[in-house]
Amino acid sequence: MTLDDFPRYPLTFGPSPLQHLKRLSQHLGGAQVWAKREDVNSGLAFGGNKVRKLEYIVPDVLASGADTLVSIGGYQSNHTRQVAAVAAHLGLKARLVQEKWVPWDDPTNDRVGNILLSRMMGADSRLDDAGFDIGIRDSWKSALREVEEAGGTPYPIPAGASEHRLGGLGFASWAFEVAQQEKERGVFFDTIVVCTVTGSTHAGMIAGFAALEELTGVRRRVLGIDASATLDRTRDQVERIARHTADLIEVGRDLRDDEIQVLDGWAGDLYGIPVESTENAMRLGAELEAMITDPVYEGKSLAGLVDLVGSGDIPRDSTVLYAHLGGQPALNAYHSLWS
Ligand SMILES: Cc1ncc(COP(=O)(O)O)c(C=O)c1O
Repeated sequence: MTLDDFPRYPLTFGPSPLQHLKRLSQHLGGAQVWAKREDVNSGLAFGGNKVRKLEYIVPDVLASGADTLVSIGGYQSNHTRQVAAVAAHLGLKARLVQEKWVPWDDPTNDRVGNILLSRMMGADSRLDDAGFDIGIRDSWKSALREVEEAGGTPYPIPAGASEHRLGGLGFASWAFEVAQQEKERGVFFDTIVVCTVTGSTHAGMIAGFAALEELTGVRRRVLGIDASATLDRTRDQVERIARHTADLIEVGRDLRDDEIQVLDGWAGDLYGIPVESTENAMRLGAELEAMITDPVYEGKSLAGLVDLVGSGDIPRDSTVLYAHLGGQPALNAYHSLWS
């Protein structure tokens, strides 16, 4: 099957906008920087990268006859908020396990931002004390069991929709969307920079660009910036999902090792805790471009981009695409960074 053979249920506005970040590019004095804005990709509760992944998962949900989406994330999970949004949109229920992934002691952390939005949309969102882990958790398995015991039919969506066999397709198709937009705008992105944690966003892009390379012969770099602070697990997950997704869309060759690059250096010591480079990058994006990023994900990948352009690792003659994956609602719990 090629990508076009997989059913896609529309949840986005269509192709997400491309934006040339001229002031940021000028400030960095190197490569030209553009952004592709998944933070404004959908009318469903502010959208984001999970909405795209869910476009390829919803047909399977509907075919399964499930009445409850069950998912998991941190208190400020963007993913669970997008699952709640899609459940509301489809007239389904959502049962969310919200774990204490981040030792961030703001008293509003389990009440504002993403979790507030999920609750507004009618999700059954319950807190759990477990810490950060991108894998399959007991708390999530027991939530699935509880839904069944209450007579419901659960549909399991793991953290970040990553450990789902179709989880990489949304961003494989993103790669083809980029290629189409390049034609329309007369631009070519030789380097893509993307935040990676549970892995299927980055992995999907790797598979999608590999499929495009087979069609066109054109190579580019897809640089994942780790924001998990558990680098080995994220790298393994990216590699596994990239290879699986490449098989699914019949890329027709093994992925090369150089196609799977997860870079270390901007996550800090802990998932969800910003470091100096995160705050500096968030400030640059906001002050130069009014482009708002969050301290958990996008501030960290933007910090990576800023340093890689500044150091010339992304060369001056490059045109680099920053994948803005959303995440701003979590900012509410991080108000102390600016107050
Ligand atoms: C805003 C934002 N950026 C980046 C990511 C990382 O994406 P992935 O989990 O697919 O690696 C996530 C979700 O985890 C996110 O919500």
